[in-house]
Amino acid sequence: MEKIHVSASGSYDILIEDGILEKTGAYLKDIIKGRKAVLVTDDIVDGLYSGKVSKSLEEAGFQVLKFVIPNGEASKNAGNFIKLLEYAAENKVSRADVMVALGGGVVGDLTGFAAASFLRGIAFVQLPTTLLAAVDSSVGGKTAIDLVAGKNLVGAFYQPKLVLCDITTFNTLPEEIFADGMAEVIKYGAIVDKELWDWLKEPLGHDEIEKIVARCVSIKRDVVEKDEFDTGLRQILNFGHTIGHSIETLSNYTISHGKAVAIGMSLASAISVQNGFCKDALLVDEMNGMLTRHKLPINTEFDAVSLIEPIRSDKKGDGAGVNLILLEKIGQYIIKKVSFDDICDMLSKVIKERV
Ligand SMILES: NC(=O)c1ccc[n+]([C@@H]2O[C@H](COP(=O)([O-])OP(=O)(O)OC[C@H]3O[C@@H](n4cnc5c(N)ncnc54)[C@H](O)[C@@H]3O)[C@@H](O)[C@H]2O)c1
Repeated sequence: MEKIHVSASGSYDILIEDGILEKTGAYLKDIIKGRKAVLVTDDIVDGLYSGKVSKSLEEAGFQVLKFVIPNGEASKNAGNFIKLLEYAAENKVSRADVMVALGGGVVGDLTGFAAASFLRGIAFVQLPTTLLAAVDSSVGGKTAIDLVAGKNLVGAFYQPKLVLCDITTFNTLPEEIFADGMAEVIKYGAIVDKELWDWLKEPLGHDEIEKIVARCVSIKRDVVEKDEFDTGLRQILNFGHTIGHSIETLSNYTISHGKAVAIGMSLASAISVQNGFCKDALLVDEMNGMLTRHKLPINTEFDAVSLIEPIRSDKKGDGAGVNLILLEKIGQYIIKKVSFDDICDMLSKVIKERV
């Protein structure tokens, strides 16, 4: 078992172990005073893993109140947020009780924000079942829902009480959803960890994946502990995301987060080389080779003029531009403040080179 401790505004453990979902109740009964558990999941994960989590919670003395949303990004909305709060209120859930997020990043983000808001904050626990949720969204306390105007526009920084990661749940992930998570794994290697990057060139079996999840979680923990509220260092985790979020928005979320981030990382690598921030022209080939190896896309059909529009309303911008996370080399990020017009020019050049 891997155990990683996070010390932020809330302190908690992240436990990575095969079969740990079956011990959910045993872990929760020691840290939760109440005996009601609102188990939030989506309609796919419900059929796969709710049974064993519910059983474990009930055996530990919890009353399980299950709330199921349709799977997919469209569910991370204000309607489901309010429905979940109403459901908790109707069932007289108290501040001593807990919300349990069983699923991917959509379930985790929605549940975390509901837990942060209900009764001004009740405990929540993350049970990530996608690679992306395990290495990224379940760690660090960013919770959110989407608005029509854009992704993650409403949310809170709110740390879970515990994260239990059972990587055997990845066995049921469709290949392309596993690949979405690999985009975030590749991101960690690209920005700070050349050794992790090199691991990703080898075949990945169960043991390697466990090692990779633990490494990514440790990297994220280190960043979050230094900058929980995203005022400085945490922005490095945004590598590929400024352009990626734009692609997600323009595609009306038909391109997944992971795939959009992959294209964003490819374009950000090309911008790094083209503007002299990276002296190694082979960086782009190395990035594209890694993304392709892990079944991720590298090109977009959107042009620079379209891509820049959502970037202008990026919540990390200041009206004049945004900090772009670029690469000096694999394993070494660089932060550059760039105006929107300059980003548009840079994107235009690197996209033109590819046609
Ligand atoms: N809070 C953060 O810090 C943070 C970081 C990165 C991403 N995110 C958010 O995470 C979301 C993306 O998360 P995601 O990629 O996990 O997507 P997701 O939650 O939509 O899950 C993807 C799909 O996989 C299915 N699924 C989940 N676990 C499964 C399993 N074990 N077996 C079979 N199917 C399974 C789901 O039903 C869904 O259809 C986005 O909304 C993104 O904004 C948040």
